[in-house]
Amino acid sequence: MIFSLGQLLLPLADLLVIASAECKSGIWIMNPDRMNTRLTGYKIRTFDNIPPRICFDKCIRRPRCHSYNYNRHILRCELNYKPKPGFVEHFHNEVGFVYVDVNHYRGDPMYDTCLGNPCKFGEVCETKKDSSVVCVKDQENKEDCTELFEYKRKSGIYTIYPSTSDEGIKVFCNMTNGGWTVIQRRIDGKENFHRNWVEYENGFGDLQHEFWLGNKYLHLLTSSGSYKLRVELVRGDGTNLYAEYSNFIVGDAESKYILTVNGYSGNTGGV
Ligand SMILES: *[C@@H]1O[C@H](CO)[C@@H](O)[C@H](O)[C@H]1NC(C)=O
Repeated sequence: MIFSLGQLLLPLADLLVIASAECKSGIWIMNPDRMNTRLTGYKIRTFDNIPPRICFDKCIRRPRCHSYNYNRHILRCELNYKPKPGFVEHFHNEVGFVYVDVNHYRGDPMYDTCLGNPCKFGEVCETKKDSSVVCVKDQENKEDCTELFEYKRKSGIYTIYPSTSDEGIKVFCNMTNGGWTVIQRRIDGKENFHRNWVEYENGFGDLQHEFWLGNKYLHLLTSSGSYKLRVELVRGDGTNLYAEYSNFIVGDAESKYILTVNGYSGNTGGV
């Protein structure tokens, strides 16, 4: 059989790639920056049941990923969007976790799979069979409805993943004017809003109808970034009133979920 040079080169290149990948996985040793440590509060995405080498790869292929936590007992991989300049450390002692900063490895052809093929923020680079690299949108967890709005334009129930929370939170996103996370809706009095502390803490009601999201979720959300609050009312005569506050923070349980709002604008004629 006669191969053209081009065809011959292609499988050879594949072979080399596979060989180097195998070689790396055989002796692949990553010196973690920290042992028994987990960076919390900056998570982009979690992968379960993957080996450490793949966790490293998942991180370095995402421009947004700067570090990861890996737990070899439960094979959990958590990608973080920090550290980057201005980073405030947020490390916790957690046995079983190691912490790796991938920034040391960026630009190193031994490690940086996407070297010379930079993807955009929010993308992930994938290597195709022919060894070429393509950038695809990363289906990462979204922090809130505002982030989700870039991908989904339909109002409804979604799960969001504030960076301060390990679990996703189910919320109603109103996508009419950008992505707003609805924290309370009152329409017709179907839901009882005379509730105790614990119920207000955990939330109650029906996300499709009347509800209170829950103080603990408001705290997680508002401590993960800067948030505005918008209150809308429809009066009996049909006029719309709204009040917007450019700052909205709900404290933690210890503070008894102390509320901070300021920066009023609106048509309610006051604060
Ligand atoms: C979204 O909010 C707008 C007002 O900002 C409201 O008119 C509309 O009914 C809301 N949509 C849903 C589905 O709740």
